[in-house]
Amino acid sequence: MAKPLSFETICSTEVKELRLNKPHVLPIYASSSFVFDDLQHSQDVFTGKKPGYLYSRYANPTIRSVADKLAKLEGFELDASVECLLTNSGMSAISLVISSILTSGDKVLTQANLYGGTTEVLNKVFANFGIETIFTDLSNLTRVEQLITEDDRIKLVYGESPANPSLDCIDLQAIANICQRHSILSAIDNTFCTPYLQRPLNFGIDFVIHSTTKSLNGHGNSIGGAVVYDEKHHKKLWTTYKLLGLNPSPFETWLLHNGLKTLTLRMDKACSNAMKIATALESHNNVDFVNYPGLPNHRAHTIASKQMTQYGAMLSFEVKGGIDQGKRFMDKVNLLTQAPTLGDLDTLLLHPASSSHLNIDREIRIENGITDGLIRMSVGIENIDDLLTDITQALN
Ligand SMILES: Cc1ncc(COP(=O)(O)O)c(C=O)c1O
Repeated sequence: MAKPLSFETICSTEVKELRLNKPHVLPIYASSSFVFDDLQHSQDVFTGKKPGYLYSRYANPTIRSVADKLAKLEGFELDASVECLLTNSGMSAISLVISSILTSGDKVLTQANLYGGTTEVLNKVFANFGIETIFTDLSNLTRVEQLITEDDRIKLVYGESPANPSLDCIDLQAIANICQRHSILSAIDNTFCTPYLQRPLNFGIDFVIHSTTKSLNGHGNSIGGAVVYDEKHHKKLWTTYKLLGLNPSPFETWLLHNGLKTLTLRMDKACSNAMKIATALESHNNVDFVNYPGLPNHRAHTIASKQMTQYGAMLSFEVKGGIDQGKRFMDKVNLLTQAPTLGDLDTLLLHPASSSHLNIDREIRIENGITDGLIRMSVGIENIDDLLTDITQALN
């Protein structure tokens, strides 16, 4: 009879029993590495001759499954091979695109009314690597084409539509057409929409970026990001991805997967609530202006109607009396919560000038519609009457 294993060996060895039943729900593969049958197997997987997992910084079954699902959603009804890489934050998804396709001396053309973190990473990180950023109004297509024509160092147009928090929209089809004419690449941050409301790849955009932290997860319990693209871009992105170690954790990806299952239900309800709240705000005497692309008189209404299936769950507005009255409003709401995120199940408020856009030059901020008193609202899935009652009493 073989000598029984010692206590310490039983403690330290991996379990090897057969996993007989297939789980119904995607398991969390919390394993940093994957074992090989023998040396030949290892060599075949490392050289790509055989499919398989090696090391979770490169790929992991939980992460791969969810990335494939997101690729299917962004590539829905698209006749192309779409791939997705999930990252450990929205910021790392943005950084993955910039650092994979641009090198020192290249320029990125973008809009000044981006999410504050994106402006900062371009100005404070990529600028140090010789990647220059030109800010312009991406809805001025003549100007966009002129800038690209005059400067062959512009290699990427990077946009956000709708933008955070001004809700301005850019014409995705027109931007993609200009980029294709000049053989340069385009990227769109699709965080506010999710692929349920807008699919930039369908318009010819090259890279779709997400902070999955937001509506894709929808429950506010994980930080993550994604880049979705045609497979022809695979090599460049994947090399940067694995070498910079941008992978998310299997657990946070699993949370994202749970959220994705109810994406359509959540978005339908939140968009419907947002439309009703925007309409109520617009007609309230104590509100100066409302930014919501669903409002017929909003400057982005026509373009949003062309490229979005619903107008989203995000809006921003300014209370009459600016910052002082805005503060009072935020202190008076009971049901709504102040939190520096968006896309959760419950309705959230944020004051961009003192949070997400704190480090953006005031003059630039105001020029781009992010006024001192602007309040951003991420509308949730609560009962609309409860929301309107709370908002109205606070405004009154
Ligand atoms: C539009 C947009 N893109 C990207 C990000 C960055 O995402 P993360 O916080 O997941 O890094 C945010 C964060 O608020 C955002 O609003």
